[in-house]
Amino acid sequence: MIEKIEQLIAEINALKASSAQELESLRLKYLSKKGAINDLMADFRNVPNEQKREIGQKLNELKNLAQDKINALKEMFDAQKAESDKPDLTRTAYPTVLGTRHPLNIVKNEIIDIFSRLGFVLADGPEVEDDWHVFSSMNFAEDHPARDMQDTFFVEAHPDIILRTHTSSVQSRVMEVSEPPIRIICPGRVYRNEAISYRAHCFFHQVEALYVDKKVSFSDLKQVLLYFAQQMFGPDTKIRLRPSYFPFTEPSAEMDISCNICGGKGCAFCKGTGWVEILGCGMVDPNVLELNGINSKEYSGFALGMGIERITNLKYQVKDLRMFSENDVRFLKEFEAAN
Ligand code: DAH
Repeated sequence: MIEKIEQLIAEINALKASSAQELESLRLKYLSKKGAINDLMADFRNVPNEQKREIGQKLNELKNLAQDKINALKEMFDAQKAESDKPDLTRTAYPTVLGTRHPLNIVKNEIIDIFSRLGFVLADGPEVEDDWHVFSSMNFAEDHPARDMQDTFFVEAHPDIILRTHTSSVQSRVMEVSEPPIRIICPGRVYRNEAISYRAHCFFHQVEALYVDKKVSFSDLKQVLLYFAQQMFGPDTKIRLRPSYFPFTEPSAEMDISCNICGGKGCAFCKGTGWVEILGCGMVDPNVLELNGINSKEYSGFALGMGIERITNLKYQVKDLRMFSENDVRFLKEFEAAN
């Protein structure tokens, strides 16, 4: 037995491990329940009484030695691991993934830029509005179909409170608190009770412009429209105005631009006509001026409103409106270059 113990002591003194795993298997070999030292402990029962003292001491010595040795090796590996876990401060940084501007924002900013060059300033108003600002003050008759439940979202229990269906409500918000000259542009979100499909959504975005001053004429409107169209779609863009109807303008018109895809020759996009519709406009109805506290004998004005999704479609040919609100990063990344 003594020889066995001496042999193990020599073995353990010479112990080496090249990895933490190897060390663990050595620990199992010597120190576990089924390890070599425990086996000797079990044999201790059979040692004659007169040798028990000497062998007992040796066994303890062996056990302590094995434990110290294994602990020392373990400490060494722990220290090595701590060292290798330290961050490498010389490594180049991970690239930061930058977001991209949403295409609707890119186009909105471009529209704002163009109108600011003409002296228009930003204005805004609430999305949750009252009937007065969205409809009544904009000269909608009591029984006008646009007030119909199918188009407008009402706030339950407050039939007077609605989600604005157009940004024209901001015209009223501005006129009721300002004196002409007024020259504002207002981008914003609007809501309509529409079934969602590739060509309609229950919310979308508009930009409204309003100009009120002495002697504002239809030719001022036309010049602003031409400037906008050519800045937005290129200097060769032509415009055409078709008579239309809006309760808040008289006369009213819809503006087409020469199709920016085929250059006016006629293609699938413009259904062969060479023209695409982009906005509604007109001279502010004198009733609207009066309803909002502006003397219509002294002042006149023009207004226009356009859908940002529509303009974005024309610029980037996005076929499905829903893409704009799904926020699929792969779609948004397509607009990186335009940022
Ligand atoms: N508010 C209209 C709409 O939602 C758009 C519009 C048309 C605005 C003519 C105007 C305008 O300011 O003069 O369809």
